[in-house]
Amino acid sequence: MINLPSAAQLVFVLLIAVPFSAAARDDAWQPREDNAAWRAECSACHIAFPPALLPADDWLDIMSRLDKHYGVDASLETTLRQQIGAFLERNAAANRSLTSRDDVPRITSADWFVRKHQGAIRLWRKGKLKSLADCAACHKGPDIERMTGN
Ligand code: HEC
Ligand code: HEC
Repeated sequence: MINLPSAAQLVFVLLIAVPFSAAARDDAWQPREDNAAWRAECSACHIAFPPALLPADDWLDIMSRLDKHYGVDASLETTLRQQIGAFLERNAAANRSLTSRDDVPRITSADWFVRKHQGAIRLWRKGKLKSLADCAACHKGPDIERMTGN
């Protein structure tokens, strides 16, 4: 038997759940704590991606194979790697639905990202955007400036 959502459930989704999740993602650019090593090391080739945009498991996966990092070698010395790994884990997404489905963890393949970035995906498919991971091409302002290592 099919269970139709009640009117009360729909009202909850529209009035409470949607604005709540949007607010939660806006905060994503501001980690709860700062970490100088993360900002310096993880912004050398791209912005230092906000820890809140991937679950802890994905960050640990990324940090465990930095020598084979999306086609480049991003290896770090052990102490630094552990320090940054612990910071990413502490500030990771609590929301499991952010988990990406790729063989390598990617913010850009998570469901919420694809949903919010239809325009960006069209530009990328047409070759007008180098990479979806180039967040700074579209997101500007003080929050993202902090993530670019400057
Ligand atoms: C030597 C250069 C380099 C360094 C240093 C580096 N990365 Fe990357 N990273 C890359 C490249 C190249 C990609 C693939 C970007 C693309 O697909 O456009 C990438 C992609 C990523 C992605 C996936 C982005 C997506 O598509 O959603 C994450 C997450 C990531 N890096 C995290 C980190 C973290 C954490 C650090 C610091 C420990 C780090 N990176 C340091 C080069 C680097
Ligand atoms: C080509 C432009 C473009 C690129 C590249 C891009 N974004 Fe976006 N992003 C947007 C636009 C436009 C929106 C607003 C979509 C909406 O509200 O419907 C958005 C929305 C978001 C939101 C959600 C804000 C909210 O209100 O829920 C987050 C978080 C976000 N982007 C993070 C990122 C990250 C992280 C990257 C890089 C890995 C990135 N974006 C790359 C254009 C871009």
